[in-house]
Amino acid sequence: MKKGILQRISDSAVWRSIFRTGIPDTDLKRSMLIFNNFFLHIFPAKMKRHGLCFSFTFCLGGISCLLFIILTVTGILLMFLYTPSIERAYFDMQALALLFNGKILRNLHRWSAHGMVATVFFHMVRVFYTRSYRPPREFNWVVGIGLLVLTLALSYTGYLLPWDQLAYWGITVGTTIMTYTPFLGSYIRFFMLGADEVGHEALLRFYVLHCVVLPFFTGLLMAIHFWRVRKDGGISGPL
Ligand code: HEM
Repeated sequence: MKKGILQRISDSAVWRSIFRTGIPDTDLKRSMLIFNNFFLHIFPAKMKRHGLCFSFTFCLGGISCLLFIILTVTGILLMFLYTPSIERAYFDMQALALLFNGKILRNLHRWSAHGMVATVFFHMVRVFYTRSYRPPREFNWVVGIGLLVLTLALSYTGYLLPWDQLAYWGITVGTTIMTYTPFLGSYIRFFMLGADEVGHEALLRFYVLHCVVLPFFTGLLMAIHFWRVRKDGGISGPL
């Protein structure tokens, strides 16, 4: 019998060199398709019905992840237009308003950042309320705390970058509060600012932390977090 076009494509050597499973027309092949695909293997091959229940998770972890992706993409675009120097930073941000869609880009980044702080917090409240921090998920709770700290640190370091009055005084007040840490206060402030007051050393430090170091560790912890959700048997049961 003559083969259909789809069958011929899925039987071809090129197709088979990329996708090891044929047309996923059985449960086994569907599972194999998920296991063997780099992009799909983040999804579970099987899941429990309650895991799909919106009112259990409110998709808050997923929304946090989506906002992180939006922040990464808009952040990279903003990096093309921004110079981390005290002479240029403020004017670069003002110049964004003159660009086609520049304001939308900036506001997308800003509002996604506010949104992520809120969704990560509410995700933590949901996990607490549904008692999902209990064994075997206690380690993932600790990874989550790391993610919360990183999210807040990303938000804080981004605050200085526009180099306007709000940014300058916000970071001055924030780092001055640090000096009240017992014994180590002034060292911590110096370590954060790279100098005795907010200046170009601080701007460069915050820029590198905001654009490279913190996103890297957030991405890494997120990968561990998702992997742990899978290893802990998927999303915890209903209450
Ligand atoms: C960047 C921040 C975070 C992201 C992107 C994230 C993402 C996710 C996702 C997608 C899930 C699957 C279920 C769901 O959507 O609710 C999940 C589950 C979980 N998260 Fe997070 N999370 C973050 C922060 C946190 C924080 C701050 C905590 C707690 C301190 C936490 C603790 C947990 C735990 C214990 C689970 C398993 C819950 C269950 O099985 O019901 N996560 N996370």
